[in-house]
Amino acid sequence: MKLGSKVIVGNWKMYKTVTEAIAFVDALLPKISNYKESVLLAVPFTALWPLHEKCKNTPLEIGAQTMNSAEEGAFTGEIAGRMLKEAGASFVLLGHSERRRLSGETDSVIHKKVERALEDNLLPIVCVGETLEERKEGRSEEVLERQLKSVFEGLKWKGDLLVAYEPVWAIGTGQTATPDIIDNIHAFIEEKVEALLGVKPRILYGGSANSANAPTLLAIPNVGGLLIGGASLDLESFLSIIENSHSFQ
Ligand code: PGA
Repeated sequence: MKLGSKVIVGNWKMYKTVTEAIAFVDALLPKISNYKESVLLAVPFTALWPLHEKCKNTPLEIGAQTMNSAEEGAFTGEIAGRMLKEAGASFVLLGHSERRRLSGETDSVIHKKVERALEDNLLPIVCVGETLEERKEGRSEEVLERQLKSVFEGLKWKGDLLVAYEPVWAIGTGQTATPDIIDNIHAFIEEKVEALLGVKPRILYGGSANSANAPTLLAIPNVGGLLIGGASLDLESFLSIIENSHSFQ
C-alpha cells in the first residue's frame, strides 16, 4: 500500500452485492491504473474475495468495515482479522460511529480490535467523532480525547496510523463540518495521538464529503484525506474525488 498525501477511502457500508461490486471495480480500475498512490475501498465481507484477484497489482486496496478482537472462536456472526487478511483485505475501519451506535462498540473494545488488526497485518483506520449533542454542549474535544486515549493508550505501534475524524452529525446528513472546525479538530487529534504514541497520524475527514466539496476539504493542509460513504457508491462521484486528491500528490 502506498499512501499519498491525500488518501481517499470509500466506505460502502451495507451496499452492493458481489455482482454490483465487481461491476463497479471493473469500471474503476482502468481509470486509475496509472496512479502511484493507493485508493482504498472498504467493502462488504462478501465482496472481499471476489475483488481480491482483480485488485492485485493495482492501486486499489480493498478492506473491511469491522472485525472481532479475538483470533478466532465461538462468536456466531463475527469475523476475524486473519480471515479478512486472507480474503484480500489490507485495511479495516474500526470504531465507525454506526458500529458504536448499532453494536454498542465501546472504546475499550475498539482498542482490542486495533491491537488485533495490527497483529493480523491489517492497517486500522480508527474513526472518532462527537455527536451533535456533545458539540452543542461544547464537549467535542473532551469526547475526542476520551476516545483517542482509550483506543491508543498503551499501543505499541510506530508504523502508519490513520485516524478518521467523523463528526456523527455530519455523517449522511449533507451537513459537512466547516473548514475551521476541521482544521482545529485535526490539529487537536494530531497533538493527542502524538503524545500517546509518539507517531504522527494521518487524519482523514469524513461526513458528507462529496465531489462538490472535496476540493475545499482536500485543500485544508491538515486533512490527510477523506473517508467517503454515500458518494463512494456512485462511480462518477467517487472518481471525481479521487482525481481531485491526485492533483495534490
Ligand atoms: P457519508 O458517510 O459520506 O455518507 O456522510 C461517511 C462515513 O460514514 O464514513
